[in-house]
Amino acid sequence: MLENKNGMIFGVANKRSIAWACAEACAEQGARLAFTYQGERLKENVEKLTADLQSAVVVPCDVTNQQEVDTAFETVGREFGKLDFLIHSIAFAPKEALEGEFLTTSRDAFRTALEISAFSLTQLAFAAAPLMKDGGSIVTMSYYGSEKVVQNYNVMGVAKAALESSVRYLAADLGKQNIRVNAISAGPINTLSARGVKNMGAMLKHIAEKSPLQRNVEAREVGNTALFLVSDLSSAITGETIYVDCGYNIMGI
Ligand SMILES: NC(=O)c1ccc[n+]([C@@H]2O[C@H](COP(=O)([O-])OP(=O)(O)OC[C@H]3O[C@@H](n4cnc5c(N)ncnc54)[C@H](O)[C@@H]3O)[C@@H](O)[C@H]2O)c1
Repeated sequence: MLENKNGMIFGVANKRSIAWACAEACAEQGARLAFTYQGERLKENVEKLTADLQSAVVVPCDVTNQQEVDTAFETVGREFGKLDFLIHSIAFAPKEALEGEFLTTSRDAFRTALEISAFSLTQLAFAAAPLMKDGGSIVTMSYYGSEKVVQNYNVMGVAKAALESSVRYLAADLGKQNIRVNAISAGPINTLSARGVKNMGAMLKHIAEKSPLQRNVEAREVGNTALFLVSDLSSAITGETIYVDCGYNIMGI
């Protein structure tokens, strides 16, 4: 499905990362992939994980460092010639902002969360668009806390609201270049980042009880939806937020 397509994947920290599940799904369908890692401490993880993939490219990229972003895209441009898809699976907020009341969010925590978790999509889309010479697809990861209050999710919910809105604005701007932009709103999954949200265990239990499918989503199910969104099967879908949450978001009382 993705033979002759080149993709760039942001957000692999370890094998539990949603980005890694997306990478596996895309690699199985023949995509050639470039991976970025945030900081030296994650370099070895990403290099080991990707060692078995054919001709994968691995480059550093902390989105708060514009020089690294520019260099990452230069390297991928040189290695691949063109880019067909980009998966943005990046978020961060200081731990103290992910517990207690949203009311106490500091200016610094707000700025950091919004910059890394929301602005970075626009930053990466801007850098990727010139490489998407035959059109392309950009996918990001959101969460239900963007639209409903989820205890402890706090400033990350506000960042995800900005992210989903950015998806619509970017889709409108990039549509003329046949570049599509969509978000996946994934149900909770036990990853490194998720463990930063207080009471994650209780959240997983609640979803397993209340969602129509009566279970939690698996990272690979999110990966499979990302595969659909970066493939030509979704060629008329752009600007959307697609729920991959075992149906949890449709439930009222
Ligand atoms: N796990 C869940 O329950 C869940 C649910 C819905 C959405 N999401 C979203 O999925 C995405 C991936 O998260 P995950 O759960 O796989 O956790 P993860 O910890 O595996 O991935 C988060 C990634 O963000 C990267 N990152 C953080 N700051 C960065 C920076 N400054 N520059 C570059 N990269 C940076 C980390 O290095 C890491 O690879 C996030 O956007 C998250 O909000 C997660």
